[in-house]
Parts: sequence; C-alpha cells; structure tokens
Amino acid sequence: RSILRQSRATVGSGVGFAVGWKAANRPNTRRYAVPDAPSEETLAALSHEDREFPPDPAFAAQANGTKELFAEADADRDAFWAQQARDRITWSKDFEQVLDWSEAPFAKWFVGGELNAAYNCLDRHVEAGNGDRVALHFIGEPDGDTKDFTYAEALDQVKRAANVLTDLGVEKGDRVAIYLPMIPEAVFAMLACARIGAPHSVVFGGFSADALRSRIADAEAKVVITADGGYRRGKPSALKPAVDEAVSGGTSVNKVLVVRRTGQDTAWNDDLDLWWHEALEAASAEHEAVPVDSEHPLFLLYTSGTTGKPKGILHTTGGYLTQAAYTNSVVHDVHPETDVYWCTADVGWVTGHTYIVYGPMANGATQVLYEGTPDTPHQGRWWEIVQDKKVSVLYTAPTAIRTFMKWGKETPAKYDLSSLRVLGSVGEPINPEAWVWYREIIGGGKTPIVDTWWQTETGAIMVSALPGVTTLKPGSAQAAIPGISVDVVDEQGNSVENGKGGYLIIDKPWPSMLRGIWGDPERFKETYWSRYPGVYFAGDGAKRDEQGNIWVLGRVDDVMNVSGHRLSTTEIESALVSHPKVAEAAVVGATDATTGQAVVGFVILRGDAAAEAEQDGDALVANLRNHVAKEIGPIAKPRQIMVVSELPKTRSGKIMRRLLRDVAENREVGDVSTLADSSVMDLIKTGMSDSG
Ligand code: WT7
Repeated sequence: RSILRQSRATVGSGVGFAVGWKAANRPNTRRYAVPDAPSEETLAALSHEDREFPPDPAFAAQANGTKELFAEADADRDAFWAQQARDRITWSKDFEQVLDWSEAPFAKWFVGGELNAAYNCLDRHVEAGNGDRVALHFIGEPDGDTKDFTYAEALDQVKRAANVLTDLGVEKGDRVAIYLPMIPEAVFAMLACARIGAPHSVVFGGFSADALRSRIADAEAKVVITADGGYRRGKPSALKPAVDEAVSGGTSVNKVLVVRRTGQDTAWNDDLDLWWHEALEAASAEHEAVPVDSEHPLFLLYTSGTTGKPKGILHTTGGYLTQAAYTNSVVHDVHPETDVYWCTADVGWVTGHTYIVYGPMANGATQVLYEGTPDTPHQGRWWEIVQDKKVSVLYTAPTAIRTFMKWGKETPAKYDLSSLRVLGSVGEPINPEAWVWYREIIGGGKTPIVDTWWQTETGAIMVSALPGVTTLKPGSAQAAIPGISVDVVDEQGNSVENGKGGYLIIDKPWPSMLRGIWGDPERFKETYWSRYPGVYFAGDGAKRDEQGNIWVLGRVDDVMNVSGHRLSTTEIESALVSHPKVAEAAVVGATDATTGQAVVGFVILRGDAAAEAEQDGDALVANLRNHVAKEIGPIAKPRQIMVVSELPKTRSGKIMRRLLRDVAENREVGDVSTLADSSVMDLIKTGMSDSG
C-alpha cells in the first residue's frame, strides 16, 4: 500500500486460535453483486464523530497549499493546470493545448509538450546548484548500514544505468521489468528507464515467480532489473531465484541486470545475467535525457481488479509528473530546502512511484528510504529513524498506525519526534481512533494529519485536506483538492445531498489519470466508465457529511446488506477497534439464510486480552458483539466474532476480505497468491477447527 512493508509486521509467529464460532454447514447459493449505496443507518452512525481541528495559523502562514488555489482552479481549471505544469515542470518543448478530451475516456494532457521525467527529477536540480543536496538518506535494514546520495550522485548513477540499458538494446517505448528490494537502485532503475523513454513495470519484491512471470509476459518486457536479495527481519532474503524461474523456458526477456545487495550465493546464467555494478562502472557517465511527448508512457503498474487477471495500469509523462509534484507540495507541504520527508511505502506500489520517486524528486526534496520492517531489530526502529534523520513529513498507512497502537505508546515515547510537522495517511479509511492516536502519540498533539484518498488508477492524490487550510475531522478524507472534481452520487448518478451516502465518482478528467489498461482498452472502458457514462467510477462508497466533507466508506463490494439494511465493513471495524481489548479487526458480510448477509468479525486482541480470551472466549466475544451494537446499533451486531492471531493481508496491507468471507461461509478458501503471507489462512483455518 501501497504500503507497505509494515503489513508484514502483523504477520507474526503466534499460533492461531478462534473462539465463539461454530462452523455451520450452509450451502453457498448466493452470489455477490455490487450492492448499492450505504444505508441511512450507516451514515447516521458515522455522524458520531464531531471532533474538529482547525489549522494552526503559524502552519498556515508557511503552507504551500492555500485557499487561493481553490478559487483559481474554480475560475478556470485548464488555466490552473497549465500554470501548475509550467511552474513545477521543465518542458523541453512547451505544450499547445492543456486537455484534449475529444476521444474520452482516453485523455491527452499538455498536448504537444515534450519533457523528460528523469531530467525533471535530477538534472535540473543539479543545474540549479543543488547537486550537493541529499536526495536519499538510504537506511538498510541491518543496523548501521546507511548511505546518503546527493542529487549529483543520484544523477551519475542514473546516467550510467541509462547507458547500460541502451547498450542492452532497450529502445524508447520498450518495457523494462523491475523487481528489487527497497534500495536506492530501485529508484535509479526507474529513473534510468524514464531517461530513455522506456516504460518501467515495477513488480513488488514480495510477489511470487508466477506473478512476476505473468506481468513480464503481459508487458513483453525486454530486460529485468533485480538483486541477489534484500534484508528482511535481520536475514538476507533471496530475490533472484524468483526471476530465474520467471524467465525460464524462454520469454521476451533477453537480459537480467542484477544488483549485488546481500552478497549471498546466487545461481548465474552467463547468457542472461549481468551484474549491475560491473555494467555501471564500465558505462559512460555522460548521458542526455531523451525528451518524450507529454503522452509518452512513463510506466505500467499492475493492480488487482475484482476478478482474475491483474490490470496493467498505464500512466504517461506530462500530466502524471505535474500532479505528482503539485500534490507532494500542497498536500504533504514539502519544502525541499528544509524538510526531511519519509514515505514508508515500497516502490513496488503506486504510493512509492508517486510519493518516493516522481513527486518528491521532481520537487528536489530530501527523503529517507528505508529497506526493512518496522520491528527490525526492535519496535522503535521507525521512531529512531525519525529522531536521527529529523524527519519532518511522514506518510504512511493506517495498517501501520494500528500496528504501532498494538505495540503500545511507550515505544514512540522513547524518541524525540519533535521534528515531525505533517503526518499523512493513505491506502484505506483511517478510523478516528487511529487518527487521534497518530496525532497525539506521533504528532505530539500538534501536527496536521492529511488523510489522502486516491488509487493506482488516479496516479496521485485526489481527495485530502490541505494542511494549512482545512479544518480536520478525524476519519474524513475531507474534500477534492484544488483542480480536482469529485462527487458522491446515488444509483442514478445524481449528486447526493449533504448527510447522505452513495458512490464516489470523478466527474472531470485530471492530469495524472490512468490512460488505459495495457493491451485492453475495452476493459478500461467497462471497468471505470460504463456505470455512469462520461464519469469515472472509483468503486468506493462514500458519504458527504453535513458540512460537505467526504468520508470514504471502503470498496462498494465490501458493503454488506443485512436484512435490507446496508452496513459498511469499515464502520463496524472502526467500532471493534474502538474497544480497548481489540488491536485490529476485519469484518465481512457472510451469506445468511435469514438475513441475506450477516456480519462476521475477525479480531486480533491486544496483548493481555488474548490470554483472557483463551480462558473465557465466549464472554469476551459476547462483550465485543454488544460493544458494536452499542456503538452503531443492534442491526450492526455481528453474528459471529472470531478471535484470530493474524489477518490475511495483501502485500500492500489491505485485508483480503474475500478470503475471510470464504472462511465465514465455510467453503474452500480461494486464491491466496496475493497474500503477503499465504500461511495466514492456514493459521486461521486451523484455529477454527481447533475451537469448532
Ligand atoms: C483503494 C485504492 C492510493 C495508494 C494506495 C492504494 C482505498 C486509498 C484511501 C483513503 C479510504 C482509501 C480505496 C481505493 N483507499 N486511500 N485515504 N481512505 N480509502 O492504492 O491499491 O490502488 O487502492 O484504496 O478503496 O479505491 P490502490
């Protein structure tokens, strides 16, 4: 998630157990259609949250994002974006037209313009005299394994890598797959591709050989860039064997460039393999960035849809880079001269693409790049990094925040976190409890929190607070940022009134929008543009509160329908997590003969409560069910709650409710290939039969 490596932090070694649930033998006859908008009950329940945090005037006085931006964008959207593009990006040829929407939904932004993304992220900063500024504070997982790269040093690496790729026969338009740990070479490899106009397809290092193979095949990648391994939980963890397997038996790949990270024994194929360090050393350090058309493909990034085959989301150059730089400036409020910024995402996810590589580097920011997990070698590792590097802007995911809550506030309290001035959240709705904990415990009760809604498809932040402008409401993503237009609509596509819920849509094209699904224009139109003609359907349910703030309720396919009442999984999870004994919760709607669907909760307990549950699980479960009924209303009371030691999560930190639904409905668990740790389902199932 996206973010996010820390998702693995919750994948521990505990033995699963489950209580309070007896597997019933219900036939599975019901299919899951996309349900419609959330019910009045759901919406009313969310209105409990009425805490408000107005911006601090001192913060507002220095903020990049101002009220005026809203007025400018409202007055003339095209002119607004043209100005952002010209102010923030260096074009080798100016554009003639801001937006061509004549072939909607295939957009062209900044038509006729030419630029190079790597030039914008590196060369121009060096040319402006900022070559000595640190671009990356790399922190490896092994203690003390750190290295800084200035913008000039990063540029040198990227120029050499660009020459190497060209020597290997990679031409403008050819695809390059990147399968690397969180090391500086991942950033350099992406920028080297951009420098020669070769779209990259980064595949998260935690994906399997099969997943890598299918992504390489779909994109017909010519070269793969990988490493011998990376460090994970204190040990070298091999990567190259997965590549060897993925390229075995003949593929589009004719070279594999291998970064030496761990020095571990690595099988070698002389026909294919080449060491990155040897190739770069031998390569020329001179290289001119190749200007490309504004609409030239910058990257593909595969993301899972509701079914089957992953979608290769296509992003192009000019519009993407403009919105990446703009949002990193106005939302994260990054001041490149003074801030130390840290986005904890992995570069294998869109968050890493936009908010490690393209946004902050286009802006010339200094950032932390951390290789490891949050609890190696100890649970204070992140806060130690914040203290040592004086991190001022931190961008992470709710799943991480809840993990830290579970570990306890004593750990962050041991470190000096006073450098922090902006905290960001991304990837899923952040429950008010976690939001407030984040602000109080990490932000010292003073930092603004920007909860940023966007997607792989949107390329960059769409809905968020501006930290110097917005009065913050914990749990709300707040409003479309200047230049972006979103709405919450009902079944018919009509805008809902304040206080009501519906579907989140984007009703005007935006610069960093996806330009399609690689090789599948029909799927692109069908998935996003067919539900409401001319309007982008995001797949999320949302509510507008009385003041017009947007509350994202989660994917609409996770909305439940219980006795004709619709309930949000997110809302019930939030209620469960607000119970002092619960660390994490996931809720699914399971088929029920009487009520259509029934609420089934899965909870991870906080330390002491887990021992208590082993003694008297039934009492604890009854207590939690009543707690939900009390928080939201009897209709939301879970039919069952299972106490588990782990939750199944994707590598991006998203809970895979589909699998939990399989468990709740007592059927064979489906495809687990996108789980961060596929053994989690075994733990949960074993736990169930133990108690069942
Ligand atoms: C889905 C997109 C955006 C980069 C990471 C995820 C959910 C994302 C929020 C948020 C509520 C959020 C949505 C969205 N989501 N951010 N701030 N509040 N929900 O990218 O993997 O493409 O997932 O993540 O459901 O549709 P992604």
